[in-house]
Amino acid sequence: MTNTVLHIDASPRTEQSVTRELSAEILRQLNADTVIRRDLVEPLPAIDATWIGANFTPDADRSDDQKAILALSDELLAELEQADTIVIGAPMYNFSISTSLKTWIDLIARAGRSFRYTEAGPEGLMTGKRAIVAIATGGTPIEADYDYLTGYLKFILGFIGITDVTVIGADQVMAGLEEKMASAKTQIEALAA
Ligand SMILES: Cc1cc2nc3c(=O)[nH]c(=O)nc-3n(C[C@H](O)[C@H](O)[C@H](O)COP(=O)(O)O)c2cc1C
Repeated sequence: MTNTVLHIDASPRTEQSVTRELSAEILRQLNADTVIRRDLVEPLPAIDATWIGANFTPDADRSDDQKAILALSDELLAELEQADTIVIGAPMYNFSISTSLKTWIDLIARAGRSFRYTEAGPEGLMTGKRAIVAIATGGTPIEADYDYLTGYLKFILGFIGITDVTVIGADQVMAGLEEKMASAKTQIEALAA
């Protein structure tokens, strides 16, 4: 069985990052044949009016410039298409996801590529995959009313067709990092490879 993992980290901290430590631990547990790495510490460009214009131009009508503008998005979509499992390290920033992760989402959520509109409503096209999301928060409990990270990530992954989402949480780490890490690592050990 192919076991290709797309490993995304969104923490800008490359040292002492809780989500990076957890996503690396998840990768060890999954023992993937192939790992595609997308470290968002390397900034992706935010979408702008030119990008939106290119995206909304039908494939056949796109100019060379428009194709070039969409090339990075195409590359990110190809990474997603190849993956059986997507592992995302997602720090909570201001009760939501980081800007870097939102930029990645803006670049991969494309009608006709990762979802499509049907008469019955939008339909995700990235089916048959699972996602494992490592979330860290300083003080916010995961799934609190004001946690706009966990529900959003599950929703947007489901929107593009990835409905099998496992959350590994190290929340409220300010209250006891060691204990939270130990508990998250126990959850990781229980993950099927
Ligand atoms: C700019 C910034 C905003 C943050 N906002 C929140 C927040 O809204 N709620 C919360 O519980 N923790 C918040 N934190 C704490 C982080 O979620 C926590 O430090 C987490 O471990 C970050 O992930 P990382 O260790 O992988 O970088 C914030 C941290 C930073 C740097």
